[in-house]
Amino acid sequence: MRRTKILGVGMYLPEREITNQDLEAMEELQTSDEWIRQRTGILTRRFASEGQSGTDLAVEASKEAIENAGLSPDDIDFIIYATLSPDYFFPGNGCFLQDRLFGDRTIGALDVRTQCSGFIYSLSLADSLIKTGQYERILIVGAEIHSTALDFTFAGRDVTVLFGDGAGAVVVGPAPEGHSGILAHALHSEGKYAKELWTEYPASAHNPRVSHEVLDQGRHYPQMNGRMVFKHAVTRMVEVSHEVLAKAGKRVEEVDLLLPHQANIRINQMVASHLGIPEDSVVNTISWTGNTTAATIPICMYEALRQKKLKENDLVLLTAFGAGFTWAASLLHW
Ligand code: UT7
Repeated sequence: MRRTKILGVGMYLPEREITNQDLEAMEELQTSDEWIRQRTGILTRRFASEGQSGTDLAVEASKEAIENAGLSPDDIDFIIYATLSPDYFFPGNGCFLQDRLFGDRTIGALDVRTQCSGFIYSLSLADSLIKTGQYERILIVGAEIHSTALDFTFAGRDVTVLFGDGAGAVVVGPAPEGHSGILAHALHSEGKYAKELWTEYPASAHNPRVSHEVLDQGRHYPQMNGRMVFKHAVTRMVEVSHEVLAKAGKRVEEVDLLLPHQANIRINQMVASHLGIPEDSVVNTISWTGNTTAATIPICMYEALRQKKLKENDLVLLTAFGAGFTWAASLLHW
């Protein structure tokens, strides 16, 4: 059976930088650079400018990934778009990206809604579609606009300081003869914890979907049980990493690079330490990106390439945890 390989990587962050000091200066938020740095490892993040959409960010990251793969948009035959912050309720962002990048080429576009695990879920799906020969080259993009849904008052400070906007993209296709490419995936969900990290409004589960009263109560902002999410994130990311290694018949000592989801530097330090992976075999971007949800892993991959930490055939472990709860891991040869 043919194997799948990542052929190119791209990323895009909006230009507007929001430092911890900028957040500290917002009186109503009542936060500090020191608290954010110590508790999360975040120093700065980017916010989209007025009118800039998730699709706008995705277009830039996708163009770079396609170019980086030595391909043109004409070579792509399917789009997978992972996001928790679609531009609109419907249609999905994949359609907007199809229009912007592919025009008259009416290739299929699928949106994936598994939050921070969205990129790994998408990679797993793309891997199957390539292996079975359904498609030749798939564009996977993770892109988020968090900044338009953050509560810049005291009530929202735990969530607001964590998130940033951004996009990351990869192109996958058949691996060259003899290259093992992507080895295994493990995907999980546990919906009983859905409301521990979620956005309640606007929603089709409510009629009307949103009201003035609900907006006044701030129930259209994300709500998070931070401590609980933290504990589950560490446990599950370690567990699913062991699972994917076992599936592929590999030992943790063989891992050359860990690219973890970026939600909190302390989570990643604990995950690496529990797995026994040394610090210099982990790439983190959280200090300058914040949590960009589905975009984090391809951004992290891009950064690993920039730091020249990824060599042909390196064994790379990806792992993520987020709202749903969902968590996942992939293991691949670069
Ligand atoms: O992508 C996956 C989704 N998200 C995550 O994985 C995030 C997981 N959770 C976390 O990263 C951490 O739980 C947080 C960073 C959200 C919070 O850190 P913590 O060490 O768990 O703090 P805490 O929630 O236990 O709060 C400690 C204190 C509280 O004050 P008191 O009760 O001790 O007086 C909070 O009110 O810190 C306070 N606090 C803040 N202070 C300044 C909470 N948020 C802030 C803030 N600035 N932004």
